[in-house]
This record gives sequence, structure tokens and C-alpha cells, in this order.
Amino acid sequence: MPPNHAAARDMVLALLATVLVLTARPATSAAAAMQPRASCLRRCGDIEIPYPFGVGPGCHLETGDWTFVLTCNRTMGGGRPRLYNYQIEVLDMSVRLGQLRIYSVINPWCYNATTRAMNGQSNWWYNMSITNFRINDAQNRFTVVGCNSLAYIRSLNDTTDTSRYMTGCMAMCPGVGRLAEGSCAGVGCCQTAIPGGLNGYQVSFEEKFNTSGIAGFSRCSYAVLVEAAAFDFRARYVTTDAFVAENGGQVPLVLDWAIGNKTCEQARRNASAYACVSANSECVDSKYGKGRGYLCNCSAGYDGNPYLLNGCQDVNECEDARFRYPCSVPGTCVNTVGLFSCACPDKTTGNAYNGTCEDKKSQIGWQIAIGVTSGVVVLIVTATCLYMVYEKRRLAKIKSEYFKQHGGLLLFEEMKSRQGLSFTLFTQEELEVATNRFDERNVIGKGANGTVYRGTTKDGEAVAIKRCRLASERQKKEFGKEMLILSQINHRNVVKLYGCCLEVEAPMLVYKYIPNGTLYRLIHGRRGEHPRIPFSLRLRIAHQTAEALAYLHSWASPPIIHGDVKTSNILLDEDYTAKVSDFGASMVAPTDEAQLVTLVQGTCGYLDPEYMRTCKLTDKSDVYSFGVVLLELLTCRKALNLEELEEGKYLSSQFLLVLGEGRLGEILDEQVKGEHGLELLEQVAELAKQCLEMASNRRPSMRQVAEELARLSRMAQHPWGRQNSEEILALLGGSPSTASEIELSSPRNISFTDTAYVGIRSPR
Ligand SMILES: *[C@@H]1O[C@H](CO)[C@@H](O)[C@H](O)[C@H]1NC(C)=O
Ligand SMILES: *[C@@H]1O[C@H](CO)[C@@H](O)[C@H](O)[C@H]1NC(C)=O
Ligand SMILES: *[C@@H]1O[C@H](CO)[C@@H](O)[C@H](O)[C@H]1NC(C)=O
Ligand SMILES: *[C@@H]1O[C@H](CO)[C@@H](O)[C@H](O)[C@H]1NC(C)=O
Ligand SMILES: *[C@@H]1O[C@H](CO)[C@@H](O)[C@H](O)[C@H]1NC(C)=O
Ligand SMILES: *[C@@H]1O[C@H](CO)[C@@H](O)[C@H](O)[C@H]1NC(C)=O
Ligand SMILES: *[C@@H]1O[C@H](CO)[C@@H](O)[C@H](O)[C@H]1NC(C)=O
Ligand SMILES: *[C@@H]1O[C@H](CO)[C@@H](O)[C@H](O)[C@H]1NC(C)=O
Ligand SMILES: *[C@@H]1O[C@H](CO)[C@@H](O)[C@H](O)[C@H]1NC(C)=O
Repeated sequence: MPPNHAAARDMVLALLATVLVLTARPATSAAAAMQPRASCLRRCGDIEIPYPFGVGPGCHLETGDWTFVLTCNRTMGGGRPRLYNYQIEVLDMSVRLGQLRIYSVINPWCYNATTRAMNGQSNWWYNMSITNFRINDAQNRFTVVGCNSLAYIRSLNDTTDTSRYMTGCMAMCPGVGRLAEGSCAGVGCCQTAIPGGLNGYQVSFEEKFNTSGIAGFSRCSYAVLVEAAAFDFRARYVTTDAFVAENGGQVPLVLDWAIGNKTCEQARRNASAYACVSANSECVDSKYGKGRGYLCNCSAGYDGNPYLLNGCQDVNECEDARFRYPCSVPGTCVNTVGLFSCACPDKTTGNAYNGTCEDKKSQIGWQIAIGVTSGVVVLIVTATCLYMVYEKRRLAKIKSEYFKQHGGLLLFEEMKSRQGLSFTLFTQEELEVATNRFDERNVIGKGANGTVYRGTTKDGEAVAIKRCRLASERQKKEFGKEMLILSQINHRNVVKLYGCCLEVEAPMLVYKYIPNGTLYRLIHGRRGEHPRIPFSLRLRIAHQTAEALAYLHSWASPPIIHGDVKTSNILLDEDYTAKVSDFGASMVAPTDEAQLVTLVQGTCGYLDPEYMRTCKLTDKSDVYSFGVVLLELLTCRKALNLEELEEGKYLSSQFLLVLGEGRLGEILDEQVKGEHGLELLEQVAELAKQCLEMASNRRPSMRQVAEELARLSRMAQHPWGRQNSEEILALLGGSPSTASEIELSSPRNISFTDTAYVGIRSPR
């Protein structure tokens, strides 16, 4: 390796340290508007209740009328929500359409042979004037079924002269044999349209028409206002009571709703009552005219509930099944907030929206041809092209700037010079696609340094992507260190770094996805549950971790020190193979006093006491931390228990105390005791004790620890505890858990000044 290489790498880190990217987030706007309480009922029976509808005060939009006031009979469990008057059942509500469907009662009018009179209501009405519902005139029809029947529908009596109306519909059966299934026109059934804007109506049968003469085959007539699409005429409706019986006495009716009685313009004036509170929403005047209220709608490219704060969310036009794929070439659609864009594939150009993409060469030829015929067009096209080239270069420049800032060029050269290392430089787009634009749902871990997302690369590889927050100098340094160390290490028990992305503000590291979470979670469970972990598995994980650390310590000289060995930095893959992760605190051991380290890192409970005293990090500091990991495996207790009394706080000191008094059995995990004889456990405990020696020179090296653990592992497997990985998986609950988390470097608990910094040296 060239002699200037170490210097170059130090420069990378120095560069990293000088990058200061502060991303300020705009404060979310806090509009003063009514919002439902979180405790509100959002479902009644099987029916979703979207705001502005709601049950009970504080749960629906207050508009001064009864439009959004629903009731729900909870004692019935499966019941439907009902309108304010407890009588009318609601079938569904749509915020997008501003509609709801209610049940409209079918009114029978029947001849009674005993009393020789007509039974049933000949006259009834609905008065919804205390709400802002309008009966949708396009979707509903006044429908009469019968063979000698005339029914009227008319406005309510108190309606003003100008909006008064009345119409009727006559159902006759001139030729009974011609009753046509599905056709409500002229034989046994009639339908008529109603005027728009009604919010009440009355219906009556004309008493001069009755079924006394035809009761033998058609005893009843029916009249109802019904959603046309939901009504399908059947001949049996005329001859039997099937119309009522098959529909439960009621049929759907579509109502339009609106808010209040103001127009959008008037409503906006009172911000505290204006209902369109979501960002990216707009107001639409009621289609029934002035004074009939308004609706809210998510803006184009957004979808959701505009009546809720942040209710309108970006629609992914590229993937949403409700949209036709918007680009002409498959795979070229990119969703952006509120919009989408289509781009021609590489080396082609053209109209990716609704035209075709052609090879660039033929495109140029085409342009020239156009140019010959029309100079003006060429001028416009050229200007546009120039602008686009300019934009593209500008963007490329910004990207390469970031790339340089994050040490990308130097790193890349280093990579190239070391053939055989597979390390990929991902582009921002690739990682956006992999994580579905950093969707919250893909977050698998959050920590002080940034966020870890789960993703899938275009090769179908499951990856974990660590997106660094880069708020402080230290985090930037840690990012750089981790990148440099991990990119060069290839060990089966060290988490594999696939690559990184440097062309963005916040650089990202891409690792192999490790599905089974951390050792911390395995030992301490999720919510205090105590999983059954066979001792042989515990020893195997300890041995593999020791091998990884021994490798780190011996791979280069001076050794690389992990610096933050703890159970939450040990990940477990499908078959519970240990993978050491988080090299954010790692460094190369200082070779002389001049390089004295003043950067104290590590986690309380695991920290080498000698390091605290001397401020000198050595490979033996990792040995100490590893000793604590061994203790956790032996005892299933946490390294630091803040709730405990003084001597119980630190697992290490409590262990040494108990061991000194010969009461080892008291602290061991019950499961472990049941599985093996005390002799083996004592040997593991002895090893842990050696690792926890106060004086670092009396601790064994990581290599010795690994060898001892290999020996103990073989012993543990000898007569009884021989488990292969399938048996272990079975013991742990069948299949590897799918939920996973990667713990990031937790906030360091101790922090001294961090002025001096020792860079990573290249291995000899
Ligand atoms: C609008 O509604 C409010 C309250 O609901 C009512 O007081 C007012 O008279 C109505 N205005 C008109 C023009 O109907
Ligand atoms: C709710 O349903 C139960 C059972 O059907 C009934 O007894 C009760 O009267 C109903 N309550 C209301 C307020 O309608
Ligand atoms: C006819 O009217 C009588 C007396 O009101 C009643 O008892 C009977 O149930 C009615 N018949 C039918 C078929 O409705
Ligand atoms: C039925 O209508 C006929 C003719 O309009 C009338 O004579 C008869 O009294 C009516 N019967 C009943 C039960 O209304
Ligand atoms: C309809 O209801 C309103 C409000 O309750 C009332 O003022 C009006 O008189 C009613 N109209 C009819 C025809 O009953
Ligand atoms: C409206 O007037 C008619 C005729 O006077 C009457 O039969 C009907 O019951 C009235 N409707 C209402 C809702 O008051
Ligand atoms: C604005 O709306 C609030 C809430 O509905 C109401 O209390 C207030 O009177 C309204 N102000 C005006 C000027 O209409
Ligand atoms: C709401 O917006 C969508 C598209 O943004 C549009 O298709 C729809 O017609 C709008 N609704 C109303 C009531 O204007
Ligand atoms: C193609 O898209 C352009 C711009 O987006 C539009 O002006 C044109 O009308 C579209 N042509 C067709 C056939 O959709």
C-alpha cells in the first residue's frame, strides 16, 4: 500500500469532520380547527365512521345542524349507525364523494280480504330539514311496484312556492304474462326521476286505485325512493311479498351531504370553523348551489380525509392500483410528493408520459428534420434541452460535492486498489426504491445516530439501510469509521457491509439484513418475557462473538478495537449465528503516548474500569466488555440495573462479589442450572472472571478467550446438550422471528471533551 494511504484516510475523516449539514424541518402548521378526540368511536357494527361524522359530542363536526350526528347502539354489537333520529340506518359514508347511503323504508299498500279494506300507510313523509342532506337526484328514482297503483311524491307542505314540486308514477299490468325481469318500465313497475336539492319529501298512494279486484294474484302495491343501481325489478315482487321480505323492508338511498350553509368563500373567513384543515386540501362549493354549504377535497395527487389535520397524503400514482400506470414505458415512473414523473430509460429520449422513447441518435436526427421545416420549433427544443442539460449538470455537481464531502472519492480509490472486495456505491434513487421512499413502515431501528430501514435492493437482496443523522461532529466521525472498518473486514461473524451512498446530505450505509434481532432482545425478551435459550446456543453465540473480536484484534497491527461491545451490538441471523455490528466507536489502538485518546465512548455497565482511569483504550477493553456479555448470557440479567441498590447496579461487580463468596449458584440463570452440571458453568464463570480482571494485563487476549470458549462449547455438546440448529430453532419457538431490530449506537453515557482524535490506520 502506498505510504500516503494512511494520511489519505485520515484526510477522509478530517473531511467528514468538516461537513456540517444541518437539516431544519419546517414546523408543522397547527391550524385551529375542530378535530375529533382520539377516543371517538370510529366504527359501528361493520361500518366505518369517517370524520366529520361521529357518535357523541366532540366526535363529529359541529355545524349547528344535525348532519354529522350519528348514534350507535353499542349493546347490539353488530348494529349499524343511525341518523340523529335513531330511526334511519346508515349503510356507508364516503368522504371522497361527500355522500352517504341510508335505508329507505318500502311502504306496502295491501288489500285485506277479511276487512275488505286497504291496509298500510297511504301517506307518509320524511323531513330532514334539520340536516344538510340532499337527496341525490342523479342516482335515486321514485319507484312504484304493483298492478293497479298510482303513487305521488311531492315536496313538504312548508316548502316555499319556488321549490314546490309534485310528480307521480303509475304501475299497471295490462298483460300479466309480460312481466319482464329486471325491467322497471310499464308492466308491474314504474320509475320516475326527482328534482335535485330535496331534503324532505312526502309520498302518498292514490286511494282511487286499489287492488281489491286483483287481490288473487297481486294483493299489494309498493312505493319507495331508492338508489336506481340497487333496485332490480323481479316479477315476484308483484305477485308475492318478496319485495319487502327479500330486502328486509328497506332499500338503499343515496344522500349528498355538505357542511353548513355557507359558500367556500364565506367559510374561509372564519378560520376557527373552516372544516378543510388538512394541508393539500381544497374547498368545493356544494353542487346544489349557494347557501347549501361546501365540501372539502384532497388536492390532485393527494388522497385521504381533508377534514383531519394532515389527512391528505401523497398518492403513489406509480403503484396505486386505482390509477392506470401513468407512463408510457414500464418501470420509469417516479412518485414525487403530490405528483409523479416519467423519465425515458437510459440513452433514450422522448415523451415518457404518453409518447415513445427513442434512441438519442435518432432523436437528434428527428430534431434536425424538424429544424429544416420549422426553425421556431428547433429554437424552443434547443432552449429546453440546454436548460435541462444545465439542470442535470447542476444536480450532478451537487451530488458529487456531497460525494466528495463524505470522502467518497478517496474511499472509492481505496476500494479499487483492493480488488476482490465487493463494495457497492448505491445511488440515492436505488435506496429510495429499496425502502419505498424511506417509508416509516420500513423503520427497524432508531438511535442517536440515525435511523435503520429495512429494504430490498433491485437484485432482491434484503438489506438494512442506516441513514445517518449527522447532527454532530462525533456522529460524522463515527459514520466514517464504521464505513472504513467494515468495508475492509470480511468475517462470517461480522455484519456484512454491502456498500454506501454518499451523494446525499445524510450519507447511508447498506448492510446485509440480519433477521433475528439483537442478542439483547434474545436474552432479555421484549416485554420481560423470559425466553428459553439452550446453554449450548449461548456458548455458541459467545464463541462466535469472541472469534469476531479476536479477528478484529489480530487482523491489523495495531489492532482495531471495537470499543462498544455489548449485547445490543450483537445481531443474530436466521440460524442464530452471531454478527458483531456497530463499529461507530471503533478505533485503532494508539501506538504511543502522543496519541493519547481522550475520546471516551462505550456504554455504562460494559466499560473497562481501567480505561476510565487511564483514558487509554486497548484491545483488553473489548475483553472486559465481552466478559460482561458472557455474564449476561450466564445470568440473563442486564449489565446495568439502575433500579437495584448500590452493589446490584453493575452486573460485573455483583457477579465478582457473589463469586468471591462462593455463591455462584445464586446468580446463575435457573434454566442454565437445570441444563448442565455446575462444573461446566463454573468454568465459564471463571473465564468471565478473568475477562473482568481490574488490571488489563491480567485479562486473557480475545484469541485465548475464543479458544477457551471453543473448548467449553465442545464440552457442552458432549453427552447431553447436543443440539443442532433446527432443535435450537424449535426450542426458541418454531421459526425465526420476523420482527427485527438493529440497535444503533445508543447515546454514549459518558462524554468527555473530544478534541483529539485518532484516525484509522491501514493494516500492514
Ligand atoms: C345558516 O345556518 C345557521 C346555523 O345553522 C343559521 O343560524 C342561519 O340562519 C342559516 N342561514 C341561512 C341563510 O340559512
Ligand atoms: C339497543 O339495542 C337493544 C337490543 O336490541 C335495545 O334493547 C335497546 O333499546 C337499544 N337502545 C337504543 C337506544 O336504541
Ligand atoms: C286483515 O285485517 C285484520 C283486522 O285488522 C287483521 O287481523 C288481519 O291480520 C289482516 N290480514 C292481513 C293479511 O293483513
Ligand atoms: C277500490 O276501488 C274501487 C273503484 O275505484 C272502489 O269502488 C272500491 O270501494 C275500492 N275498495 C277499497 C277497499 O278501497
Ligand atoms: C320539518 O322539520 C322542521 C324542523 O323540525 C319544521 O320546522 C318543519 O315544520 C317540518 N316540516 C314539515 C312539513 O313537517
Ligand atoms: C301536507 O298537506 C297534505 C294535504 O293537506 C296532508 O295530507 C299531509 O299530511 C301534509 N303533510 C305534512 C307532512 O304535514
Ligand atoms: C367562527 O366559528 C366559531 C366556531 O364555530 C364560532 O364560535 C364563532 O362565532 C364564529 N365567528 C364568526 C365571526 O362567525
Ligand atoms: C376532488 O378531487 C378529485 C381529484 O383531485 C376530483 O376528481 C373530484 O371531482 C373532486 N371532487 C369534487 C367534489 O370536486
Ligand atoms: C401528451 O401529453 C402532453 C403533455 O403532458 C399533452 O399536452 C398531450 O395532450 C398528451 N397527448 C395525449 C394523446 O394524451
